[in-house]
Amino acid sequence: MLREAVSADAEAIATIQRQSVEAMDSTMAAPATGQEIRDQLGAMDPREVWLVLELNGGVAGWGVVKRYSPRPGYDRCCETSIFLNRSLLGRGIGRPLQQELLDRARALHYHHVVAKIWAENTGSIRFHKRFGYEMVGVQREIGWVGGQWRDVAIMQLILQGKT
Ligand SMILES: CC(C)(COP(=O)(O)OP(=O)(O)OC[C@H]1O[C@@H](n2cnc3c(N)ncnc32)[C@H](O)[C@@H]1OP(=O)(O)O)[C@@H](O)C(=O)NCCC(=O)NCCS
Repeated sequence: MLREAVSADAEAIATIQRQSVEAMDSTMAAPATGQEIRDQLGAMDPREVWLVLELNGGVAGWGVVKRYSPRPGYDRCCETSIFLNRSLLGRGIGRPLQQELLDRARALHYHHVVAKIWAENTGSIRFHKRFGYEMVGVQREIGWVGGQWRDVAIMQLILQGKT
């Protein structure tokens, strides 16, 4: 089941976030606590959405549509991110969640969607390409994680419609 995240999901969301921090392949973030996730949920903008994918009564993954920038010229641009429980990768489970993120982005009248993906995370790059994201370019050595420089791919998707 896909639904909007509530504060009771915070610990499960934090657990999944920490798994990807530890995997060192997909996020520059520090490991979050449940309280930090609760705070982030409470601080969401009305044009942002945080979704969870529930499977067998537990949170299997989560995804976010967030504003790209508070500057008014960027009002029609958002950024998506998506993270599954690491035991569930590669089974197609992320696809309905990603589709719903893009449906929500359209409903919120975004026109341009950005995803920032570690360049070494080729599975995630292929995943996003299947949804129509295109590679803008690679920011070389922009991150320093685990004692190594990390490159980040910037991907973009223009949602249909001129306005
Ligand atoms: C990116 C993600 C949401 C895709 O969801 P998914 O359900 O795994 O998607 P798919 O099953 O279509 O698999 C996507 C790709 O992941 C790759 N993959 C499979 N198993 C994997 C594993 N154990 N570890 C890493 N990648 C794997 C697959 O090769 C697949 O590419 P392919 O189909 O071209 O071979 C999910 O893999 C994930 O949460 N990854 C970790 C966090 C992450 O990278 N998030 C993106 C940052 S915005």
